[in-house]
Amino acid sequence: MTDTTAAWTAVHAAADRLRETNLRALFAKDSDRFARMSATSGGLLIDFSKEKIDAGAMDALIALAETAGVADRRAAMVSGEAINTTEGRAVLHTALRAPAGSSVLIDGQDVMPDVIVERDRMLAFAEDVRTGRYATVSGQQFTDVINIGIGGSDLGPAMAVPALAPHCDGPAVHFVSNIDGAHMTDTLKGLDPATTLIVVASKTFTTMETMTNARSARAWLETALGERAGAHVAAVSTNLAATKAFGIDDTRVFGFWDWVGGRYSMWSVIGLPLAIALGAEGFRAFLDGGADMDRHFVETPLAENLPVLLALVGIWRRNAMGCPSVAVLPYDQRLARFPAYLQQLDMESNGKRVALDGTPVATATGPAIFGEPGTNSQHSFFQLLHQGTDVIPADFLLAVRNPTSQPGHHALLTASVLAQAAALAFGKTEDEVRADLAAEGIAADEVDRLAPHKTFPGDRPSTLILYPELTPYVLGQLIALWEHKIFVQGTIWGINSFDQWGVELGKVLTKEIAPLLDDGDLERLDSSTRGLILHLRTAE
Ligand code: F6P
Repeated sequence: MTDTTAAWTAVHAAADRLRETNLRALFAKDSDRFARMSATSGGLLIDFSKEKIDAGAMDALIALAETAGVADRRAAMVSGEAINTTEGRAVLHTALRAPAGSSVLIDGQDVMPDVIVERDRMLAFAEDVRTGRYATVSGQQFTDVINIGIGGSDLGPAMAVPALAPHCDGPAVHFVSNIDGAHMTDTLKGLDPATTLIVVASKTFTTMETMTNARSARAWLETALGERAGAHVAAVSTNLAATKAFGIDDTRVFGFWDWVGGRYSMWSVIGLPLAIALGAEGFRAFLDGGADMDRHFVETPLAENLPVLLALVGIWRRNAMGCPSVAVLPYDQRLARFPAYLQQLDMESNGKRVALDGTPVATATGPAIFGEPGTNSQHSFFQLLHQGTDVIPADFLLAVRNPTSQPGHHALLTASVLAQAAALAFGKTEDEVRADLAAEGIAADEVDRLAPHKTFPGDRPSTLILYPELTPYVLGQLIALWEHKIFVQGTIWGINSFDQWGVELGKVLTKEIAPLLDDGDLERLDSSTRGLILHLRTAE
């Protein structure tokens, strides 16, 4: 890997320089700051003018991206090289949404014919379920679909179905992910097995949560439908031997490949529940949105490239300003699950402590991500964003229009996000607070007492991502934007964004502990786990 030391030094020098100023001063100095510090493509606008960054810092960051080899690694990814080196796999979620006529080779073999066959099979099945061509065992139309999956086999469609609610006109789609049986119990309540289709979604088809839930759901179907229950079960997986062993008819099994990472898989047949809700046309529009962002990412110079700019802003926040977390705040109720979706996408990808060569990383890597829709989040944790002791950068999302809103609401939603971003950036100085309190006729000693509490330090960075309207196409653009942002950051940090070994240890220990809960020798366990199990064995 190229030595990036000098490029990092330039970034840190820019940070030292900017530490001496604040966002008020940066705006005062440059009346064109918004024009200079925002970028557009494909109808999206990213405003990063409220980040504590200037042209010199941006130049240093672009140079860092160049030195880190973003362009070469981007080319390696989209051309099917095995860049996921710890698993020996290519990383080709871009192939899943590639335009007709594309060809992508892995070891000399074009993957596109298989992609198209499986996509067409999945979309045809989705349409059959929607129209009743594929009917229940008693010939009725399915009214409900339960997707059983977890992580990447759940979060994408579970986020997208409510996000695209006005575009969804198929059967009602439900999602069960948690091994906590309450999730299944509460979902099954009110559903009729006679008109419910189960989709078991698992890349590996071995995940404990999903297989346990799948067995419970099948038992529920069998109680009502007997031997015919199998006709109400479909599967999406890369493990076709396991779907067969589970007894799912091959005609209702839709495949994908090990070069699709779980958290990057909603573009594949993992999107079946979304396709059932949305229809084939809507799902293809979603793919087209992703492909549009891919084209932009691959063809646009780094300095105008939206995912690259978003990534560099994140690098700046994390490595130059030392911010360990990010708030993702969709001012769009239908994107309520978008922060949860990004948590897996970003934190499972970039929550890494060693570089590609196994040595400890030289810099901090992925931040912790949290978020809730605005304006609810304003009335919850914004106190800490405005006046807490940590600086937590915010990513705001807003639609230009929402034709399905209520009269007058969208203007107030828009005003809210603009106001919050301005309040975070510019704050309210103690002098301003004092002047306001005095103007209200408050006594001088009371002004002294209250002023510190009412002061807003400001200088708190945020980026706003503006999109025309939340359609399938735009959702595809937004997800691909974040996928590529994460990729660029992983490249700059020199880590493998496409493995997830950190989730394995807990899974292994669960398998060791589960048989010991009721009885068995606990001697080899640590005293805490042992003590807890002993307590649980006797607790009322
Ligand atoms: O435990 C994490 C993980 O491996 C994710 O990466 C993945 O998306 C999820 O589990 C589900 O895995 P599967 O699709 O194989 O059931």
